[in-house]
Amino acid sequence: MTVAPRPVQIAPSVLPADFSRLGEECVALQQAGVDRIQWDVMDGQFVPNLTFGPDVIAACRPHVTVPFEAHLMVSTPEVLLDRYIEAGCELILVHAESTIHLHRCLEQVRSAGAAAAVALNPSTPISAVSHVLDLVEMVLVMTVNPGFGGQAYLASMEPKVAELRTLIVERGLDVDIEVDGGIGPETIAGATAAGANVLVAGSALYRDPEGLAHAVADLRSRAEAAQHPGA
Ligand code: DX5
Repeated sequence: MTVAPRPVQIAPSVLPADFSRLGEECVALQQAGVDRIQWDVMDGQFVPNLTFGPDVIAACRPHVTVPFEAHLMVSTPEVLLDRYIEAGCELILVHAESTIHLHRCLEQVRSAGAAAAVALNPSTPISAVSHVLDLVEMVLVMTVNPGFGGQAYLASMEPKVAELRTLIVERGLDVDIEVDGGIGPETIAGATAAGANVLVAGSALYRDPEGLAHAVADLRSRAEAAQHPGA
């Protein structure tokens, strides 16, 4: 069964941004044409790094209108996820590995009025989410081990993306596939051809010598070309 590819969305990670000017950085990303902004929330427990509390995100919320998503790389996400929704995140990504009650945690996100998504570390199989696909708008397949930006892309995750895409199509579900980690001009085509349609990029956006708008447009065109080979 052939199914039309889902619209490409470029979701910047603000991890490489200037943390002393996050509101202005969000405005620059919106002006550069991003589809959403991903906040990499890290607690120093689930991953060996510490980043944004809900108040930081709430301070940036009024500056832009693009949707915010919180990528909760935290232990016991149930404890804080409502605060990230109150801070203005329309979508919450929960790691399957971060809670023993994943189904209940995703229901908690939806009950609080946000869209739910589930994230998978590189070693976690697709089977970990097969019983919660009906609760989520998106599945994030990590293409690095979480915790830091600027890491090398794990091309070995592409068969996992393809397996997930097949499962979603077979079930006729309306679910996006996001990838995050090492996404740039040289890697985005492989991830998109495998089935991802929401692409998170941090380093690749900020290191483009022609600026953010060029980087966003370039990544988008490369991803769309990969969705339509031979076009
Ligand atoms: C890892 C982070 C990174 C970040 C993007 O925990 O989630 O993947 O968003 O990193 P780069 O710089 O590789 O795009």
